[in-house]
Amino acid sequence: MSTAPARTTVGVIGAGPAGLLLARLLHRAGVDCVVLESHDRAYCEQRQRAGMLEQATVDALHAAGAGERLAREALRHDGIELRFDRRAHRLDFPGLTGGRYVWIYAQTEIVKDLIALQLKDGPPLLFDAEALAVDGLDGERARIRYRHNGAERTLTCDWIAGCDGHHGVSHAAVPGAVTYEREYPYSWLGILADAPPSSEVLVYAHSPRGFALHSMRSPTVGRLYLQVPNGTDPGDWSDTRIWDELDARFAIDADWRLTRGPITAKAVLPMRSSVTEPMRHGRLLLAGDAAHIVPPTGAKGLNLAVADVVVLADALTAAHRTGDTALLDAYSATCLDRVWRAEHFSYFMTSTLHTDPDQTAFTTRLQLAQLSRIAASRHAAAELAENYAGLPIDRPTP
Ligand code: APR
Ligand code: PHB
Repeated sequence: MSTAPARTTVGVIGAGPAGLLLARLLHRAGVDCVVLESHDRAYCEQRQRAGMLEQATVDALHAAGAGERLAREALRHDGIELRFDRRAHRLDFPGLTGGRYVWIYAQTEIVKDLIALQLKDGPPLLFDAEALAVDGLDGERARIRYRHNGAERTLTCDWIAGCDGHHGVSHAAVPGAVTYEREYPYSWLGILADAPPSSEVLVYAHSPRGFALHSMRSPTVGRLYLQVPNGTDPGDWSDTRIWDELDARFAIDADWRLTRGPITAKAVLPMRSSVTEPMRHGRLLLAGDAAHIVPPTGAKGLNLAVADVVVLADALTAAHRTGDTALLDAYSATCLDRVWRAEHFSYFMTSTLHTDPDQTAFTTRLQLAQLSRIAASRHAAAELAENYAGLPIDRPTP
């Protein structure tokens, strides 16, 4: 699709998981929309992000008609493993949460599935279409000024969904917004490896050498992470150094070995927590990373983005059908409840499992006391499991 109408009901900025899923949900509800994406299709389809899906996220993808390949290929996980003090502790999610599971399915694949659907039967999706500014947010009609094929154009809309991430134009267009932020004094070095996973479930390891995580993309591809100092150059980490360090951080007093394989990608990811309030100004609604960022420990980013757009699709559909904006009026408060819960959980997982550069022995002992409590107490384990597996999405009705 290379041209867009000049007028639509919902102008969606950004073709990440938030914008693409919102567009699909609106399309199925009979609400017309147009998606503008500043990058090309290949860029959108190859970005590596955490691929752990809560049940509510899986349900939303099915509701959007994007669950066919997911149903065949996603790996169902019944828990995670925590490692500390050279011991491994398995948390059994169905037993701790009354039957809930999580799913492993890469974000790249979700984005590919959604783009393929959208290019097949709409709504319009324009790549290389960069939103430059939004205005008219307090008036009768909102406008997105954007650049496409070298020409500047305007899309007039009833509503704008700002799904353009933390560095997009939407986030900065909420006058009087307050942003609450925290940067962490460490980053993750993430790798993809052609190596079958060495564990059935994800392994989160606390170690005196720093945090490590063993995740996976498929039965043949591993995704692993090491805590590294901010500013680390991935070029300083040879493949052997990475595998040796992973071995050292995952080591337990039992017979366990990490299967090595060719490393096909290496990148350093900074870590940040951030929430912008409110998530709405007039005709502009923020969703996903445009409104909030979590550090990746616990993989809440995608799940929060999906929860936002499920609530937003209901609200925009109600406003379009009946003119009633009550759900849109409640949108920011509805989402922020869940956002802050996930912010707390992500912060808790991050600060309990990582080693600060200037960490004292006292803090390490507190971390170990907390982890021991989770291993020993069903209540403490259930608290972690409930947050990890995710709560149902609160969907107010008109
Ligand atoms: N105009 C058009 N598109 C833009 C603009 C702009 N001015 N600025 C940014 N974009 C696009 C980006 O190129 C990107 O494709 O918006 C999209 C935002 O997508 P994401 O960053 O993936 O954000 P979101 O859809 O909210 O995804 C939620 O969950 O795991 C987390 O951060 C992770 O991707 C993740 C997220
Ligand atoms: C991932 O698979 O990339 C992943 C999984 C769980 C996390 C973070 C990242 O907590």
